[in-house]
Amino acid sequence: MAVIFYLSGSGNSLYAAQQIAEKLEECRLETIGSYLRKPYTVEDEIVGIVSPVYCFALPPMMAQFLAKLNAKPNYCFGVVTMGGNQGRALKQMSEALSAKGVALNYAQTVIMPDNFFGIPLEKRIEQLKVAEPTIAKFAQDIAQAKEDLGSVKEAMLWKLFGTSASWWYLKNRLNFEKLTVDANKCVGCGICADVCQMENIKMVDGKPTFGNNCASCLGCFHWCPQSAISAGKLTLDNSKRYVNPNINLEMMKGEQK
Ligand SMILES: Cc1cc2nc3c(=O)[nH]c(=O)nc-3n(C[C@H](O)[C@H](O)[C@H](O)COP(=O)(O)O)c2cc1C
Repeated sequence: MAVIFYLSGSGNSLYAAQQIAEKLEECRLETIGSYLRKPYTVEDEIVGIVSPVYCFALPPMMAQFLAKLNAKPNYCFGVVTMGGNQGRALKQMSEALSAKGVALNYAQTVIMPDNFFGIPLEKRIEQLKVAEPTIAKFAQDIAQAKEDLGSVKEAMLWKLFGTSASWWYLKNRLNFEKLTVDANKCVGCGICADVCQMENIKMVDGKPTFGNNCASCLGCFHWCPQSAISAGKLTLDNSKRYVNPNINLEMMKGEQK
């Protein structure tokens, strides 16, 4: 039996997790939010982790998940989806797993449309054209329990400056952690709450309210059909709004919880 734990805001990592799961026998998908709410001993022989890259590293919520994970798989793989630069994300994953006594066997990165910077539509289509067969190849490798750690690299520059400087900029200059809703645009559909895998959004009187357990995934921001949500100074217009075209709301909702 196999399990893939994932975090996904705009659906890139969920797409990769789904494609890999399809090639494995009896593989379930679970969000890291679900595991963090109710940690347990993972009995599966194969454990996969699929994550976006944030600020040249793993998302802080993914790091929290790895610190909690209790598993002893025979085969463990990690895939990170990214706009273009993983920094030290896979190295961080490998170290965090190793601290829990789990050895990573296979790890890869794949470039997918960046959900932080607005990428023009033609460029997104081009990137996905390359990413899809790349992920299919990873899935094949993983189904054959291949070993490959060639992408697990230390990146001292990112470790020392890139990650903390980027988070500093996001938090202090963009005020990125302050999620707000434009009450004039919001129609109270509740999609933002449905796609939030941390269950950090509650609908109160028909409007979203945001708690303190945000994974910074921008899921609410991108899935809102009214572009009513802002993350500090980060606001959306339709040219910047991005969700993976292979992932629909039902998949996000169905597999998030
Ligand atoms: C807060 C934040 C920081 C990001 N930082 C990076 C980065 O340092 N390097 C990179 O290549 N992509 C970065 N990205 C882009 C995402 O890693 C990429 O779009 C990923 O595929 C999103 O996956 P998801 O749709 O499953 O959430 C960042 C995205 C967010 C939201």
